[in-house]
Amino acid sequence: MLVKSFYEKVKIDPVIGNIFTDIARVNWEKHLPVMFDFWENTIFYTGSYAGNPMKTHQQLNKLFPLNAAHFSQWNRLFASTVDELFEGDKAVLAKQRAISISTVMQVKLFKGA
Ligand code: HEM
Repeated sequence: MLVKSFYEKVKIDPVIGNIFTDIARVNWEKHLPVMFDFWENTIFYTGSYAGNPMKTHQQLNKLFPLNAAHFSQWNRLFASTVDELFEGDKAVLAKQRAISISTVMQVKLFKGA
């Protein structure tokens, strides 16, 4: 529910929507199940995700340079989706994890820039 609702917002977002729909041309039928596994693992430590998100975003960043404003908007949409649907420890954890992963991604993507 979290992942589906989040990407419904992402798709139509004026700041980052086009990165997903026009630039990366995301195949949602493939991407959503990957993201179900990723968030399940990130929040509940199920071991369900074994991908390499850094590589994906490094490739994306070459195709279309990402910036801090894109990441802020991503985080705003993610946090607002969590807050609309959930409350409690796991809701807090999901938002914290999103921020920390996003921070690490930005450090890695923007280092030396
Ligand atoms: C400006 C911010 C971001 C943009 C524009 C972005 C965009 C994308 C795009 C286009 C894909 C590829 C989808 C596909 O074609 O399959 C992707 C994959 C993914 N993203 Fe992001 N992303 C952003 C931030 C984040 C953050 C902060 C996280 C984690 C908290 C994240 C987690 C992932 C994961 C786990 C994948 C799947 C990688 C795989 O295939 O295993 N993304 N993202």
